[in-house]
Amino acid sequence: MDIRGLGYIAVGVANLDEWRRYAELLGTRPVPHGDGFAMKIDDRPFRVDVRRTETTDELAFAGWELPDAAALEACAAELESAGFALHQGSAADCDERRVRGLIRTTDPGGFTLEFFHGVVHDHEPFVSPTGVSGFTTGDQGMGHIVLGTPDIEASTHFYTSVLGFRVSDYWKPDGAEHDVVFLHCNPRHHSLALVPAGGAALYHFMLEMDTLDDVGYTLDRHEATGTPIAAGLGKHTNDHMVSFYSVSPSGFQVEIGCGGRRVDDDTWTVTQLTKPSFWGHRPPVS
Ligand code: FE2
Repeated sequence: MDIRGLGYIAVGVANLDEWRRYAELLGTRPVPHGDGFAMKIDDRPFRVDVRRTETTDELAFAGWELPDAAALEACAAELESAGFALHQGSAADCDERRVRGLIRTTDPGGFTLEFFHGVVHDHEPFVSPTGVSGFTTGDQGMGHIVLGTPDIEASTHFYTSVLGFRVSDYWKPDGAEHDVVFLHCNPRHHSLALVPAGGAALYHFMLEMDTLDDVGYTLDRHEATGTPIAAGLGKHTNDHMVSFYSVSPSGFQVEIGCGGRRVDDDTWTVTQLTKPSFWGHRPPVS
């Protein structure tokens, strides 16, 4: 399957106003979208759809991008032959996502996935309301998501054997029974990580900024506004991202980083990590 990257995600949240302020704090541009708003971070119409939910704040769906209509048809055929129920996106769904075609299914962890092709551009340049110079996207997609899944083996099999993701590396935390699995589908070290968990949960999504200064100023804006962080600045051992973890108004985290290294499938070898960070990523001292 020819998945090119994480195109967009949608999060369901209880407090849209708080999220709109938070989106600006992160340096993204809130734009009107559906019944809520969306975060624009690059030349795409949106990357993070923020919609109201009456239930638990969580990932509403993740949208994986295919290169064209033929690739989406092939994706649908492969999902069906692997036994996954498919729903065709309606014209209204496509209008809202600003794409030419999409299908929807549910992964073994219980997450709703969309597969789409044909982004319909808005041709609006990205201008950050807080002066972020830019977000790193392009051939690396919008960033990454880290998902807790109740069946790590079924989920890993689905993303690798059915969807064609490649394993980047494994991390086995001390005493853990199962690995955390990092997966890529383009040069971004991981567009997805799967964490063994009791139930399906969005742990965090990551947005990469173009410079360390962008990340530093964003960290300063957190301190100036009393916005909580879960982990201070640090450098990850696998993707080499220098990042910190912000606590969103919904409780799940948003990793803000820069300087992630790119994976070249021709030379990459899979390894196992014994710690997640070279340095830092410690909880703030209260
Ligand atoms: Fe991350």
